[in-house]
Amino acid sequence: MSGEWWKKAVIYHIYPRSFQDSNGDGIGDLPGITSRLDYLKWLGADAIWISPVYPSPMADFGYDVSDHTDIDPAFGSIADMDALISAAHNRDIKVVLDFVPNHTSNEHPWFLESKSSRTNPKRDWYYWKDPKPDGSPPNNWLSRFDGKSAWKFDDGTGQYYLHTFLEEQPDLNWRNPEVRAAMQEILRFWFKRGVDGFRVDVSYRVMKHPDFEDNPLNPDWTERMDPSFRVTEKNTKNTPDIHQFNRWIRETADEFDNKVTIGEMNLSIEQLCKHFGTPEKPEFHLPFNFRLIFSAWTKENVKRYIHEFNEFLPVNGWPNWVLSNHDQPRFATRAGAKQTRNGHLLLFTVKGTPTLYYGDELGMENVEIPPDRVQDPWELLTPGLGLGRDPVRTPMRWNDRTHAGFTKPASTPWLPLGKDASHQNVSTQRKTSGSMLRFVKELIQIRKESKALLLGDINLLENLPDAVLGYVRHHIDDSNAYLVLINFSDETVPLDEAALFSEMGLTRPSLHCLLATEGDQNEIALHSPISILPNQGLLFSFQYEN
Ligand code: NOJ
Repeated sequence: MSGEWWKKAVIYHIYPRSFQDSNGDGIGDLPGITSRLDYLKWLGADAIWISPVYPSPMADFGYDVSDHTDIDPAFGSIADMDALISAAHNRDIKVVLDFVPNHTSNEHPWFLESKSSRTNPKRDWYYWKDPKPDGSPPNNWLSRFDGKSAWKFDDGTGQYYLHTFLEEQPDLNWRNPEVRAAMQEILRFWFKRGVDGFRVDVSYRVMKHPDFEDNPLNPDWTERMDPSFRVTEKNTKNTPDIHQFNRWIRETADEFDNKVTIGEMNLSIEQLCKHFGTPEKPEFHLPFNFRLIFSAWTKENVKRYIHEFNEFLPVNGWPNWVLSNHDQPRFATRAGAKQTRNGHLLLFTVKGTPTLYYGDELGMENVEIPPDRVQDPWELLTPGLGLGRDPVRTPMRWNDRTHAGFTKPASTPWLPLGKDASHQNVSTQRKTSGSMLRFVKELIQIRKESKALLLGDINLLENLPDAVLGYVRHHIDDSNAYLVLINFSDETVPLDEAALFSEMGLTRPSLHCLLATEGDQNEIALHSPISILPNQGLLFSFQYEN
């Protein structure tokens, strides 16, 4: 794959601690990932995005980087990364790493220097501010993790430093040209090693408003809510200067061929579409679309997002979709077992690049973590609020043996496997026809073979019953078009055949059912009278009549 490979790619997101442990320390590692590339190829992954594997004190499990151009021993070595990149490329799989620009670890040599004195040449690489006259922090900005002040006082130099996340994660000052140059060099280091792109962590938080004014209070905040939402994020998130940051990243990537940049931003589709930039001044290839992660799985929401992409996508834009990640509850838990396949039917047939979170292809749900096994600092800082991320980071399930094959039998996995692992695992589901894994693989296969599904337009059908979402994908160079119907309700819903076909521009049905989330697809034909079963999702191919 070359050129705009990322438009057609299925991106598979790996949380490396939890994918495959090769050395028995209970933590997944790079050789473990390499050993599973054949599985990923079989599944149909075209690219893997690996959450951070750089040296780190692991206060935030790798999102606190202390050396950007090496690998943490828990994950292996730089030679292991080289081997992984080459083994992936041999299989035509791209490798996307995580780039963490907003902050470093407080143990990064840059921060240690910066903290050492007010006159250190790297002092301005981080945000240092004087206390207010009463000694309190310079403004009311809050840390995302505990909702307390985002400023930490340093006794040694008598100033506060900014940390949007943990106090172990001081924010970098990207307005300083030396910081930019150093960070761009890091991108080049990895691009030259063969890395195909970066997912850019909290990209939309990097540029703070230069005036450092208070954030306005959030009038809707209540005690049971995330404590950091007490104030809004007006001056700390998606500020006007963010486009300058996006350009710095994109320009560096464009020094090389065929690289992808993915910006992490939890924004409305209208807002995220502004992060594509323009054809003359492009920004991110894929500003990440979190809508399906942060909204309820309803027909109205999904339909609205498809509409919004059709409306707001700039000429150089391309949509993308994701159902789960390492920070939020898994899709199967949020949408429920009856709708899990429908989510994936959408993910792989809607217009745009899909990102699949490891284990979702098995239907993995959140795993309950006993209190004595909690690892995530967010849970430890805000107990009981349900913000902890361990339940969605549990080990991948490979087989029905001890620890589901994630680590050696005598080892202790860093997080528990969960009770379903003995039957919900790759080896069992590969053998079982009708399993979630076989369903996802088949869906990806159908997608790969169809220009209409990979690159075609999408037309939403407007004349369907309330509970049913429907859309058509077509491409001028593909003789087949595709119809997707998803029933969001627990009821059988009759469809108005005449209205459906007339909206699709067909006079007589010539539909072939390729895949059904419920029931036997070979038995399904849209003929009169037609109806869709409770929670059923259907994928048809058809040809336009001449
Ligand atoms: C977003 C990442 O996805 C999350 O896991 C991390 O804790 C924060 N950024 C801070 O880097």
